[in-house]
Amino acid sequence: MSWQATILTLFPEMFPGPLGHSLAGRALRDGVWGLEAIDIRGFATDRHRSVDDTPCGGGAGMVLRPDVVDAAIGAALAAGPARPALVMTPRGVPLSQTRVRALAEGPGAILLCGRFEGIDQRVIEARGLEEISIGDYVLSGGEPAAMVLLDACIRLLPGVMGAAASAEEESFSQGLLEYPHYTRPTEWQGRAVPPVLLSGHHAEIARWRRAEAERITRERRPDLWAKLHPDAAGAGAMDGRPAAA
Ligand SMILES: C[S@@+](CC[C@H](N)C(=O)[O-])C[C@H]1O[C@@H](n2cnc3c(N)ncnc32)[C@H](O)[C@@H]1O
Repeated sequence: MSWQATILTLFPEMFPGPLGHSLAGRALRDGVWGLEAIDIRGFATDRHRSVDDTPCGGGAGMVLRPDVVDAAIGAALAAGPARPALVMTPRGVPLSQTRVRALAEGPGAILLCGRFEGIDQRVIEARGLEEISIGDYVLSGGEPAAMVLLDACIRLLPGVMGAAASAEEESFSQGLLEYPHYTRPTEWQGRAVPPVLLSGHHAEIARWRRAEAERITRERRPDLWAKLHPDAAGAGAMDGRPAAA
């Protein structure tokens, strides 16, 4: 059984979109993962096919109705295997590589995409949806956020990426950002590739890469560095020196 993604959206025609290309697109055509985009509007019950209404308490914009969204979630649950059900929202837990890895190891995911001001909170609670954010900024809809989440999961599915090792070394996999990459020409516009990378000495290359990954993480993401070295937070971790392992 392949990894199954079900998207609940007002714009099913947006899918697969970018996920129909490159690695994800090939994997979709090869049946490594499956995609179903369900139109939330199909569950509207009135003759205007309304899916939203004005916010209780007043204010701008519209809110997706709980009854319509609930019926759409019910259809998604009935259609496929039991899977985690998530809602994309800026109020959610920030998406992490750890969560992505866990989702990729499971049977798939049901992703609810909001629009307008958002979704009535009661259906989020009633269905026990996991609230996920892709960052501290506001998109106009959950579809691009769902695509980000799917892309991150799909590339980890068995057989999607060429070299299995690449997922083990890349950013976040060991709590660090990745080291910098270089390719030919070895000299370009007066800039040389670090000589150690041309030395053929595998142990030294590994050491250099680890040191660069640590330096970049310390400089750019003190929050990640502090997680790796909680005792050093506020002391050596921030002054450019590696903390004791
Ligand atoms: C215009 S936004 C609603 C923003 C909401 N009123 C707020 O201030 O939190 C419409 C939809 O886009 C999606 N969305 C926007 N930003 C997002 C983010 N950073 N992560 C995940 N989903 C997001 C959500 O599905 C949301 O319901």
